[in-house]
Amino acid sequence: MTAARSATLTGIVEQVRREWETIELRRRANVVGRLFDPPVPPAELLRMLYRLSQDLAYGLTSPATIRSNLELYLLVRCARPNFVLETGVNRGWSSAAILRALEHNDRGRLVSIDLPNADPGGRVDADGMRDFSWVPQDRTGLEVPEHLRHRWTLRLGDARQMLEEYRGAGVDFFFHDSEHSYPHQAFEFGWALGILPRGGILASDDVDRSPAFDEFTRGLPRIHWANRGAARNTR
Ligand SMILES: C[S@@+](CC[C@H](N)C(=O)[O-])C[C@H]1O[C@@H](n2cnc3c(N)ncnc32)[C@H](O)[C@@H]1O
Repeated sequence: MTAARSATLTGIVEQVRREWETIELRRRANVVGRLFDPPVPPAELLRMLYRLSQDLAYGLTSPATIRSNLELYLLVRCARPNFVLETGVNRGWSSAAILRALEHNDRGRLVSIDLPNADPGGRVDADGMRDFSWVPQDRTGLEVPEHLRHRWTLRLGDARQMLEEYRGAGVDFFFHDSEHSYPHQAFEFGWALGILPRGGILASDDVDRSPAFDEFTRGLPRIHWANRGAARNTR
């Protein structure tokens, strides 16, 4: 690399770092840190934000995708799981965030289960709500960058049948983002809390779509942000 190019890159990294030091991002990071016991120190969370800002500066990800999955990324960084199990992939934004965190942790793998929806008009769930998630055939997870795929297994099928294959597999982090009906969320949360070890993390999208997350995680340390939530299994 020429000296001029190296100086330009250093400038970009510094610029992004300054942005990532803003109060707003630090506040969001500290919410995640408080799920742990002892809480993850702000300085450590800031180091994680710096690491993420480097991917941004080098064009390995985009600000929009990082911002919408910041807490999920930090949760995985802080928990340092060996085995993340995720339901609901669609284009793969959350999978990419989890995989990026595993890469930065330099450990762990991700299995993602998705039942692709072939109908562009969406699919009606058990609560009668229409889920408009759709990706072109065979393109599930298309947003997951090639360089992050070596820790990833994508399984296509119904979580209701496939989860059971992972009982006893050592899952220590579970992320729900598949069907958000009450019966399905209750099934997945009940299953996950039944297999997660003490200290394992249950995280979920759309916790406001049904009372299931509130019911299943009551009494556990938990945090909320946007329409997502996470709980630490202390049982
Ligand atoms: C909201 S999208 C997932 C978005 C993704 N997590 C992200 O952040 O980019 C929900 C996905 O769950 C899938 N899905 C719905 N019901 C499912 C089931 N029973 N088992 C597995 N996947 C399911 C849908 O087809 C869709 O791809």
